[in-house]
Amino acid sequence: MKRIKLFDPSTNESEKNAIKRILDSHFWASGGGGGEVQKFEEKFLKYTNSKSCVAVNSGTAALNLALSMYNIKNKEVIIPSLSFVSTANAVIENGGIPKFVDIDEKTLCMDPEKILKVISKKTKVILPVHFGGLTSNLGEISKLCKEHKIALVEDAAHAAGSLHLNKKIGSHGELVCFSFHPVKNLAMPTGGLISINTNDHKKIAKILKEKRWCGISNRKGDDYDVKNIGWNYYMNEFSAAIGIEQLKKLDKTNLQRKKNAKKYFEQISLEEKMPFDKECSYHFYWIRVKNRTKFRKELLEKGIQTGIHYKPIHQFSFYKSKIKLPITEKIGREIVTLPTHPNIQKKDLEKIIKMVNKFS
Ligand SMILES: Cc1ncc(COP(=O)(O)O)c(C=O)c1O
Repeated sequence: MKRIKLFDPSTNESEKNAIKRILDSHFWASGGGGGEVQKFEEKFLKYTNSKSCVAVNSGTAALNLALSMYNIKNKEVIIPSLSFVSTANAVIENGGIPKFVDIDEKTLCMDPEKILKVISKKTKVILPVHFGGLTSNLGEISKLCKEHKIALVEDAAHAAGSLHLNKKIGSHGELVCFSFHPVKNLAMPTGGLISINTNDHKKIAKILKEKRWCGISNRKGDDYDVKNIGWNYYMNEFSAAIGIEQLKKLDKTNLQRKKNAKKYFEQISLEEKMPFDKECSYHFYWIRVKNRTKFRKELLEKGIQTGIHYKPIHQFSFYKSKIKLPITEKIGREIVTLPTHPNIQKKDLEKIIKMVNKFS
């Protein structure tokens, strides 16, 4: 029985040719970020209509670097707990305090009303996660940030191609962090990017580029200076070349994800499921089930791989606190993620829907 994968990158000859071209060039990486990396940044800049873009080697690196641009030491960064742990780790990495906020039960994104309740003098940044690619309450969060003069940094790891992240169409945070991990809508072996939307974007991009390459600046021949602490966070040429090909088809592959999500939304008989929003990139589609272990086991026996996104961060040993986030905790027990990627065949989708409905 052929397994229906939860995630599966969509590739063809164009990615193979790109890899071969880079392999044969013997130019595989450079901290300076020329070559394919610069080309990818230029293309992604055009695509998102942002002001500057800095490519890095993961979504985690993007978050770490983005928060390093704010002095968050002993200050609070408001984040959801229903996310990949990097969202919170980036706050700790920069000396800040993660302030977990509960989510909206309909979207599983941070609830703006609950954000308002925890904003204090210590709040430096609000960092929403566009869960599954849904950016529907970004406008409200953006308004809150402006009113309270708090920076908006977005974790858009799931949201490459979500319409709200195109500035021509919707609102946009100061810094937006993307992940191009192989499971993501725009897949690379490993990769990430920060898009910048501030008036001083050129200055910010210059500092970020220095920080992504160990702090190296003013490079002239063999001489250089180091003005900031930095890390080995630069993107390699293979990733960038693959990314350029992936970006060309992103709208098309996202459209297929959207069609798959629409089918789930219309045909799954469960009440508790991801809403349909035509602006969403549908990195996955979520449903909620009570007897999750049994449900997932039965689907796997029929060759259907599902996922859990996520175990809430505030429940991990490192983050354990007395904080109660009732909706996040309930979702953490019930959520199951289903595949939306464009490699799913029509009959696979029908099989998944049939199995889910049988169980519900
Ligand atoms: C919401 C979220 N934030 C951050 C990351 C980190 O991205 P990466 O795996 O590219 O470091 C991920 C990826 O899993 C993610 O899903």
